[in-house]
Amino acid sequence: MRPVLYTVTSAKREMASTMTITLEPPRQVGIGQTGAAEPGAAQVGIAQTGVAQPGAAEPGAAQGLVPIAPGQFNMLWSWGVGEAPISASQSGLDGALVHTVRDVGGVTKALCAKQPGDVVGVRGPFGRGWDIDTARGQDLIVVGGGIGLAPLRPVVHTILASRSDFGRVALVVGARSAAELLFRSELDCWWRDRAITVRTIVDRPSRDWHGSIGIVTNELPRLEIDPGRTVVMVCGPEVMMRFVALNLIERGVAPEAIQVSLERNMQCAVGQCGHCQLAGYFLCRDGPVLTWEVARPLLEVREL
Ligand SMILES: Cc1cc2nc3c(=O)[nH]c(=O)nc-3n(C[C@H](O)[C@H](O)[C@H](O)COP(=O)(O)OP(=O)(O)OC[C@H]3O[C@@H](n4cnc5c(N)ncnc54)[C@H](O)[C@@H]3O)c2cc1C
Ligand code: FES
Repeated sequence: MRPVLYTVTSAKREMASTMTITLEPPRQVGIGQTGAAEPGAAQVGIAQTGVAQPGAAEPGAAQGLVPIAPGQFNMLWSWGVGEAPISASQSGLDGALVHTVRDVGGVTKALCAKQPGDVVGVRGPFGRGWDIDTARGQDLIVVGGGIGLAPLRPVVHTILASRSDFGRVALVVGARSAAELLFRSELDCWWRDRAITVRTIVDRPSRDWHGSIGIVTNELPRLEIDPGRTVVMVCGPEVMMRFVALNLIERGVAPEAIQVSLERNMQCAVGQCGHCQLAGYFLCRDGPVLTWEVARPLLEVREL
């Protein structure tokens, strides 16, 4: 199962250790044309994981993978270094992929160093993402901590694109400091627009920080909740997701209405190697998004 070679078209620094890269798919080369991005790049057969079918497009058209849904991930591969699972931080684009990567080790460092024109191998999309449809007609609370906001950003984009499909929507974002708030200018826009409620909270405030101080769970009591019609989506450190879930369950939200995105080391990403296995679940295939009803017992097993 080989990666499709995408070309980096933009690399935006979000903060010291985090970059957002935009990737464009290879273009099919027609008869008499030359100039595929890399040898073998135009059509690499990963049919079972969703590569666009060869032959469907006109010469010169993009030959990328099938579109990625909010909460799904791709395996991004940096030549000579390795692969890492990275969620889409934007979706619904015409062929392009957008991923936001925090540099924590070998592969993510290499991905964060990519510049326009560089090539990144992509396998995917993989896994089950956010079940946004269950939130239609309901209130929605979206909670992101640190880099956990990246997979939730396409959820916010989806809501804003069809705002009237949802009831009250609150986005709660936590970070260690204001400088580490991801997508800060976009958060400011969403806050100003008031189409959704946006609350940010940091636990190490600078002098010029006028917002809330603490951890995301401190912010939850400030939200008005109708528990019987509330859907929750949470992504961030596991301990944060646990406390958010427990806090909202205490307020009457059903465990099956709370969706969390779990992270484990991944290798094959297609349910074959067992690296991401938690009890009977392969997170690459059955997750990464699970309801809290399903996730909670799995996390308890791991800690025994
Ligand atoms: C489904 C999924 C979606 C993800 N989405 C994103 C994303 O959108 N943006 C992003 O920046 N990162 C994301 N990650 C995390 C990312 O995959 C890891 O940070 C990356 O694999 C680390 O690889 P590395 O070679 O850079 O670091 P390594 O050298 O492998 O590891 C560096 C450190 O990170 C720890 N680590 C490695 N992998 C993970 C992991 N999966 N979870 C927790 N700790 C880990 C290691 O134990 C080590 O301490 C996601 C992970 C999963 C499973
Ligand atoms: S990564 Fe191989 S089974 Fe999930």
